[in-house]
Amino acid sequence: MPEQSRSAAAVWSEPGFAAAWAGADPAGEHDLLALPRRIAARLIAAELPAPRVVVDIAAGPGGFLEVLLDAFPGARGIWLDASAPMRELAGERLARFGDRVDFRLGDMVDPAAAGLAEGGADVVLSSRASHHLSGGELRAFYRGAAALLAPGGWFANLDHIGPVDAWDRRYRAVRRAMAPANRQAAPPHHHDYPLAGAAEHLDALRSAGVLDADIAWKAFFTCLFIGRAAPAQPAADPTRPHP
Ligand SMILES: C[S@@+](CC[C@H](N)C(=O)[O-])C[C@H]1O[C@@H](n2cnc3c(N)ncnc32)[C@H](O)[C@@H]1O
Repeated sequence: MPEQSRSAAAVWSEPGFAAAWAGADPAGEHDLLALPRRIAARLIAAELPAPRVVVDIAAGPGGFLEVLLDAFPGARGIWLDASAPMRELAGERLARFGDRVDFRLGDMVDPAAAGLAEGGADVVLSSRASHHLSGGELRAFYRGAAALLAPGGWFANLDHIGPVDAWDRRYRAVRRAMAPANRQAAPPHHHDYPLAGAAEHLDALRSAGVLDADIAWKAFFTCLFIGRAAPAQPAADPTRPHP
């Protein structure tokens, strides 16, 4: 596992930390991510109504994968994460899907090393994990994720970005003021600031081959980056004369 990716993964493998983080994650009406997760599912469904394989990279407790498995009852899910305690939490949360979910422990920057087949996924997801990476590792993450996509497959990453200073201050202040009064604080974990900006994410995703990538939703520091890989080229028609 590369250095930055290893240090990002380490703390999540402590059972107490993983449980405390998941327990503090807002739920119900305070879950701001419910909407972008549904937007991702709707955008995908509009063009690809029956994906067969959905991969969630650094899936944690599995909230994003859960929304997609509900939206696409014919799909199988592949959960990938480096953390064994997160595997336990996801096992509980996703238990109702039975053998539709396959759990793999592995590095988000190298999903092929965890046995995920290139071109084998109709949808690849990730959320709240790639902001731990920057520079070469962020690009490697997008390359590895895009390589999993079948032609015409969809990629969605719902993650935090580093805004420029003035907006960083404004967002922090307003987000704090809008948080529910009794909100449980998530346990702190390491980030390498400044986080990559939205333009860096889009550039890395497009360079990885998802050329039509866009930001479909954004609130404060969090963006839904989404795009579709190019569909397969139609086979050449042997009966058609050369121009
Ligand atoms: C903030 S949690 C987000 C979990 C989930 N995607 C969500 O949005 O609820 C970050 C997740 O990234 C995983 N992670 C961190 N570094 C990783 C790495 N190098 N490879 C695989 N997973 C990693 C952690 O184990 C953790 O589950």
